[in-house]
Amino acid sequence: MNPIQSAVASFKSYALPAVVGVAGCIAVAGLLVPARAAEKDAKAEKGVDFVKDIQPIFKESCVKCHKAPDARGPGRGPGGPGGAAPAGGPGPGPGGGPGGRGPGGPGGPGRGPAGGFRLDDKAAAMKGGKHGAAIVPGKAEDSLLYKLLTAPAKAGDDEVSAMPKAKRGEEFKAIPDDQIKLIKQWIDEGAKWPKQ
Ligand code: HEC
Repeated sequence: MNPIQSAVASFKSYALPAVVGVAGCIAVAGLLVPARAAEKDAKAEKGVDFVKDIQPIFKESCVKCHKAPDARGPGRGPGGPGGAAPAGGPGPGPGGGPGGRGPGGPGGPGRGPAGGFRLDDKAAAMKGGKHGAAIVPGKAEDSLLYKLLTAPAKAGDDEVSAMPKAKRGEEFKAIPDDQIKLIKQWIDEGAKWPKQ
């Protein structure tokens, strides 16, 4: 208790009712500010920052398949960069691009973002994909996006592969645990996505 508060407190107990109103005002004025500041501090300490913590994960692990169809030119048609690339070697870009022309390969046959789901744009991401909203602000456990980070998940009648989707013939490899935790926390904190 600071001096003003204790003064107010002791004053309050003896004061006439008429004075209580004034004391109340002082108390409110005195308390409100510190309370707000404390709230802010708590957030700064443990809050997830979308731009700093989350977007880079999406960019690195998801956006190559989940983005606007026209964002990287063709994106459709047979023989995308890399194609099947048996050498598997240093194709252009990570892994030679999402799947190239494999039938139903990751990235799909090229019409638009994989699963109809985009992670390069706020409105599109919040809208969700083929199976509806994948991000439920405040509820990571109910968010398809979060569930898929560890295992395949049911969505309607379908089972959606775990994400990031493994290349054909390869095993699913989850993103690092701490990244999964960050995404969970981000969704639980309301999935705030500031406008770019
Ligand atoms: C290699 C391409 C690829 C990468 C990388 C990838 N995905 Fe996907 N994603 C797909 C495909 C293809 C689908 C369609 C469903 C399926 O194939 O099971 C899909 C579906 C989804 C869906 C379901 C959309 C719906 O409504 O059906 C979500 C959510 C999703 N991905 C999230 C992510 C997240 C988050 C990441 C990054 C951690 C990621 N994906 C990385 C290819 C990819």
